[in-house]
Amino acid sequence: MTDPHEHPEDTTATPRAPPPCKRLSWQKRNICSRSYFMIVVVFFPVYIINVIALLLYVHYNNSPGEPVIMPSDEATRSKHQQRAKSHGLTSSKSEFVRDVFLPRIDGVRAGHVQKVSLVPGKRHEMRTLSLKPLLFEIPGFLSDEECRVVMQLAQLKGLMESQLMVQEGQEDLAEELNLSPEEIFNLLDINQDGQLQLHEILTHSRVRDGIWLTPENLREIYAGLEADEDGDDLLSLEEFRRLSSDAFQRFLLQRGVKSSQLVRNSRHTWLYQGQGSHPVLQDIKERVTHLTQLPSMLVDLSEPLQVVRYEEGGHYHAHHDSGPFYPETGCTHTRLAANTSTPFETSCRYITVLFYLNSVEGGGETAFPVADNMTYDEVSLIQNDVDLLDTRKNCDKGNLRVKPTKGTAVFWYNYLSDGRGWVGEQDEYSLHGGCVVTHGTKWVANKWINIDPDYQRQARYQQLVSQQQQQEEDEGDEGPRPRLELHNSDIRQDL
Ligand code: OGA
Ligand code: CA
Ligand code: CA
Ligand code: FE2
Repeated sequence: MTDPHEHPEDTTATPRAPPPCKRLSWQKRNICSRSYFMIVVVFFPVYIINVIALLLYVHYNNSPGEPVIMPSDEATRSKHQQRAKSHGLTSSKSEFVRDVFLPRIDGVRAGHVQKVSLVPGKRHEMRTLSLKPLLFEIPGFLSDEECRVVMQLAQLKGLMESQLMVQEGQEDLAEELNLSPEEIFNLLDINQDGQLQLHEILTHSRVRDGIWLTPENLREIYAGLEADEDGDDLLSLEEFRRLSSDAFQRFLLQRGVKSSQLVRNSRHTWLYQGQGSHPVLQDIKERVTHLTQLPSMLVDLSEPLQVVRYEEGGHYHAHHDSGPFYPETGCTHTRLAANTSTPFETSCRYITVLFYLNSVEGGGETAFPVADNMTYDEVSLIQNDVDLLDTRKNCDKGNLRVKPTKGTAVFWYNYLSDGRGWVGEQDEYSLHGGCVVTHGTKWVANKWINIDPDYQRQARYQQLVSQQQQQEEDEGDEGPRPRLELHNSDIRQDL
């Protein structure tokens, strides 16, 4: 909810509207906290009852003759894998029979190495880096030549700023909802000690407009606004009351914001990988399909390849590539196949494959601050002076870092399995970021595989795309590009 790790939006290219609390200011966010609290208090008991009812239903409706796809059922699993590979998803008229089992690679344990064959005549070694998230590294996934081609194609196309500068003047939700300063204060005061610690403000505020607040610049803001009169780094209710609701934002904008103070500081572009695209790009896509063992249609219908370039001083603070999934969450890629409009939207990136296109002279590691941690506690990620999400400062304090080496691919699952062969909950441990580049430039590419955790919606989407392709083939209109009018229209414009 108060998830400061979500992308700040790849503004122009991936319109990933975050769940409703994400873009809100510290005051605004807490309205969400309150609604969240209401949801927990009111709906949680109802949810539990529903789960029990569902379990009973499943129990009494599974006659022994009916196949149930379970991960432990190897025979069923491989049969379904076969089918998934050959057909994509199968469908009946309106309800789709769920007969696809998405394979998940077994990591065994951190440090485990397995051989994989991805290209004829060559075996790659794939090392498990962590189980939480399920994360692998494959050296030599791309050849030097392939890296060169991808960088060159990106340069030819032109890269744009990944995060645009901040806009002023947004409506104030706190005012609209008539929350009193006391109510806001209470919501911010996580430990309920009657004072606002720096980290309590940071947890709620700093992704506002993509500006990344640090404890130091929060102190500067306090000084500039004379907010913390007794200078104890804490805001009392009295001190808080004297601030106007948008005081922080106004102060920051007046002072001016540098790119190093944003959530990310890089440039990127998108490279289409379908029919008619450069053979290297098509090969990479096929290799990714092999690697992930997913039905090729899922990979074909995913976002194009994103190529990212960081200059010296570039970074990307820790984030999740995809947001959490609630029943009301929609996925960007299946938006037009959804029956109903959804209040929240995220990009539903089941897997991230990250390729290093060059070896970086200094810095630029990919950090996974909580990989294989015992627990995931969002609040304790940000202490008063150590913020594990800050990849300009604290990359060395996290659990795992991957050094960027030309041709190496890393890949991980951003979602868990639902235990029945489909996409389940978000894996919070997949939190990661790009450490600051201290020497040279850094080039990476991202291949995201989009799958809607709502099986019906994914199936409907694939059916719509297939129908459309069929229709266009019948009309003899065969262009070099796939006819994905339904998919990522905003990205397509940029291809
Ligand atoms: C990303 C990302 C990490 C890196 O582009 O989403 O997390 O090391 N990149 O650049
Ligand atoms: Ca407090
Ligand atoms: Ca104080
Ligand atoms: Fe990322």
